[in-house]
Amino acid sequence: MADLYSCKNHGVVVGPGDDAGIFRYKNTFMVETVDVITPIVDDPYTFGAICAANSVSDVYAMGGTPLTALAILGFATCDFSPAVIKRLLSGAVDKLREAGTCLIGGHSIEDNEFKLGFAVSGTVDEGKILKTGGAKAGEILILTKKIGTGILTSAVKLGKMKESALKPVIASMLMLNKTASKAAVSAGAKAATDVTGFGLLGHAFNIAKSSKVNLVIRNSDVPFMSNVKEFIASGIVQKGAKKSLEFVSKNVSFPPTFEDADKLAFVDPQTSGGLLISLPEKGLKKFDLMMKKEKAPYWIIGEVVKGRGRIIVER
Ligand code: CO
Ligand code: CO
Repeated sequence: MADLYSCKNHGVVVGPGDDAGIFRYKNTFMVETVDVITPIVDDPYTFGAICAANSVSDVYAMGGTPLTALAILGFATCDFSPAVIKRLLSGAVDKLREAGTCLIGGHSIEDNEFKLGFAVSGTVDEGKILKTGGAKAGEILILTKKIGTGILTSAVKLGKMKESALKPVIASMLMLNKTASKAAVSAGAKAATDVTGFGLLGHAFNIAKSSKVNLVIRNSDVPFMSNVKEFIASGIVQKGAKKSLEFVSKNVSFPPTFEDADKLAFVDPQTSGGLLISLPEKGLKKFDLMMKKEKAPYWIIGEVVKGRGRIIVER
């Protein structure tokens, strides 16, 4: 990828392959990213807000502060009333405001499949950049949201779960990764990513590969939302999950007792998932204080060890 997209401009600090690109313009380090998703909940206001939280997340995953956003909206004009679009965008704008991000424009296109996303720009301090390649052996792995948004939103779509049961799932998707990002940077982390479409393992693998380390993840310490494994075992499987599992499987070792459902839960595609942070252990106290102050959850799920880009899942 690096060669295909290589660019002679010396301003490129982080190119393709990380959560967001970083470009240095004079003394400013600009963080730029785009993310577009299809609806995962019915309510337009809620979907707009989730979508905004999901789009600014990649800036937080780089240790940055999102400042401006451009909306990208695709919909069939005959199927949606202007009132629905207004609700959608008002949900998005409210969430962007919470992140301190201004919507300054956008573009809509006629599209039979509804989609919404944002191109987000922000800034980051040079010494505070969180890269997928910044993890070091000896650090601990922290995850800041539970896993399971993919399978649970699918279960609702398929009528296997009541929409009301999605409440905690929606609350998780609406939560900004802002506090987690600031806490990680303050506590001395140099590596983080957000857990999104490739699931926990897919994104953990990016860190392992880019940082040239192995990651040990303890299954018993990974926070799964209620009923995730039950729904997977019942046969609801996301297409993306199977692909991600195939993609990472030769670089992952699972416990011998692991069934397919256990493995698939580890690659459940997340929307607006949490940050996976590699943290020097001496920073844990500070991280803990900052997270607790904002009532932000986190789990220590494993550690970074010497290696060459493998993930070892333990019981
Ligand atoms: Co990302
Ligand atoms: Co992204």
